[in-house]
Amino acid sequence: MTTDNPLVEPTTDRVAPPAVLVVFGASGDLTSRKLMPAVERLALRRLLPAGFSVVGVARTEMDDEDFLERMRTTVEQMGGGGDEAKHVWEAFSGGGFRYVAGDYADPTTYQRLKATLDELDRERGTSGNRLYYLATPPTTFPVIAQGLGAAGLHQPPCDGAFVRIVIEKPYGRDAPSAAELDAVVHRVFDESQVYRIDHYLGKETVQNVLALRFANAIFEPIWNRRYVDHVQITVAESLGVEHRGGFYEMAGALRDIVQNHVMQVLALTLMEPPATFEANSIRDEKVKALRAVNPFTPEDVRVEVVRGQYTRGWAQGREAPGYRDEEGVHPHSLRETYVAMKLQIDNWRWAGVPFYVRTGKRLPKRVTEVAMEFKTVPHLPFAKDQAEGLEPDALVLRIQPDEGITLRFGAKVPGQAFRVRSVSMDFFYGAAFLEEAPDAYERLLLDALVGDPTLFIRSDEVAQAWRICDPLLQAWEDYDVALARYEAGTWGPAEADALLARDGRRWRRP
Ligand code: BG6
Repeated sequence: MTTDNPLVEPTTDRVAPPAVLVVFGASGDLTSRKLMPAVERLALRRLLPAGFSVVGVARTEMDDEDFLERMRTTVEQMGGGGDEAKHVWEAFSGGGFRYVAGDYADPTTYQRLKATLDELDRERGTSGNRLYYLATPPTTFPVIAQGLGAAGLHQPPCDGAFVRIVIEKPYGRDAPSAAELDAVVHRVFDESQVYRIDHYLGKETVQNVLALRFANAIFEPIWNRRYVDHVQITVAESLGVEHRGGFYEMAGALRDIVQNHVMQVLALTLMEPPATFEANSIRDEKVKALRAVNPFTPEDVRVEVVRGQYTRGWAQGREAPGYRDEEGVHPHSLRETYVAMKLQIDNWRWAGVPFYVRTGKRLPKRVTEVAMEFKTVPHLPFAKDQAEGLEPDALVLRIQPDEGITLRFGAKVPGQAFRVRSVSMDFFYGAAFLEEAPDAYERLLLDALVGDPTLFIRSDEVAQAWRICDPLLQAWEDYDVALARYEAGTWGPAEADALLARDGRRWRRP
């Protein structure tokens, strides 16, 4: 049994081993917004050893000092830095931040990287341990994997050392391209070295789905088709595509959110209790759960799926442009910024329970939640007007913001009359615990450094998620499937409301 897995050894604080974090895409957005703040916080929490080093790789010309300074200032702009972090950056300034400028397709880039890594091993005692992080556009993933392989950088340089590679999403554009990417990656790296990241799994409240389900006796018995009427999973964002119009034109909501974040939350909701919390025990159950999702036929895509795109409207009290007017977006673009769908699960636990899923940009607020609505009682012993304010019982797991859990149930309205209406019992994460939760990237970066793959996506999970999404992509390409429109700042297209109305249900207003 490994002792690196916090789900197994929950009480010990894990500290990263001496290592070099090599960031490809070092001048990019993800590096400055997520990775470097995570490095700073890990260092502040004393979870990085003294010689821990970072090597940035990108095309932009910079020297080591420029790179360090640039990273220090961006972290400050992201709300980090300050007096508290001064000593962290002082420690890094003694040669702990290095930069290799070069093209990813050029073999000499990897020769220079190799020389830098060897130097760091000698000078800072990083012991041959390397974590490569591909914070680059997906087209470069195969190129970088091959480049590392050709330079022999995929192998530990000495006994007992580790070499791992973290690959960002999107992993492929569909099932065949994900399999192709896997083939290239596996020619160089063993699957045990590959850490496919989905930052949703790093969120404390996503992990709390496991705690809620498997640490309590009262939820699991009702977590099935006997009691659950339907489930709604919402990943709503108030932001538009911001400055990522070009990327979004290639991705769309299905590839950007559904194939990864939504599928992960879905898998944790659907899965059977794992025998242990070991990485593969959990991942086996997630794969099994995703396998049970009924694939869409082309006809289903017309009926059970809504794709939408936002038009001009409002966001946070200001007029907001329509998607087609965003920078980098084609004026006649058919790219979806919203997806709603009804999934059916073919297994004993969930047969006949619809899972309604929706995600969209430019919705009224940012909220991610799993809401489980329960069946009504077989007989209500009240007159109709006594129970007018009564809605079905519901359990809502709020993943963000206001992380917590709400249980909705019926209660008597105070007074002489006997009337019942729904009330809520709320648990707020922030109020119940004093500990500050680590940010998702902080958590996952440390997991990758200590070698715990539990919260990373295995190759067969990726394949299952594409199996569910591919028929939609195919149908949208091949058939004349309507693109619904919704005004920015609203809860999505009317067609999505109709999807539930047909079943006599409504979307929640989170
Ligand atoms: C990213 C998507 O993976 O997740 C973005 O590419 C999206 O489009 C983001 O905005 C949402 O993440 P979070 O943590 O803000 O819910």
